[in-house]
Amino acid sequence: MRPTDIESVIKGEEATLGETLGKEFFEQELTNPLAYFWVATKNDEVIGYIGAYVVPPSADIISFYVLDAYQKQGYGSKLMTRLLDECGRLKVEAVTLEVKEGNNKGINFYLKNGFQKINIRKHYYQDGSNALLMKKVIK
Ligand SMILES: CC(C)(COP(=O)(O)OP(=O)(O)OC[C@H]1O[C@@H](n2cnc3c(N)ncnc32)[C@H](O)[C@@H]1OP(=O)(O)O)[C@@H](O)C(=O)NCCC(=O)NCCS
Repeated sequence: MRPTDIESVIKGEEATLGETLGKEFFEQELTNPLAYFWVATKNDEVIGYIGAYVVPPSADIISFYVLDAYQKQGYGSKLMTRLLDECGRLKVEAVTLEVKEGNNKGINFYLKNGFQKINIRKHYYQDGSNALLMKKVIK
């Protein structure tokens, strides 16, 4: 992800997640050596994004989407594979994330990609809904 992708990623987050980490966040974090952000592009358009903090031996996914029109075509898996490959290279042993309870697309995706539900965080989100904490052991 480059500074020139920020605007597209913000729009994509708003469209798919209903919220965004915001311009200031990305401007700051794109120079953070612990932040690993990738975009998926098609015909020069940003169609997806994954962002994680990688602090071996653990990593935490902070945001992830594929635009509606491109979902279920393997782009999410490609972004996840890119992150997991990097985690393997950096000797990360476990990757965690939070996903909204009821987000079946997300939960199915993570289960299919080897993540397991390990905990529930009650009233984690601003709208009062719970978060599932999910984890994938990669070593
Ligand atoms: C989660 C997400 C990134 C997956 O991206 P994707 O490009 O569709 O993923 P892939 O095509 O590589 O993988 C498809 C798998 O994802 C899950 N999935 C995707 N869309 C789904 C849907 N509409 N209903 C149920 N499961 C779905 C399934 O496990 C599916 O496997 P299958 O095709 O064998 O059923 C995408 O659905 C998305 O952006 N969702 C909205 C934002 C979001 O919830 N992000 C995660 C927040 S924690």
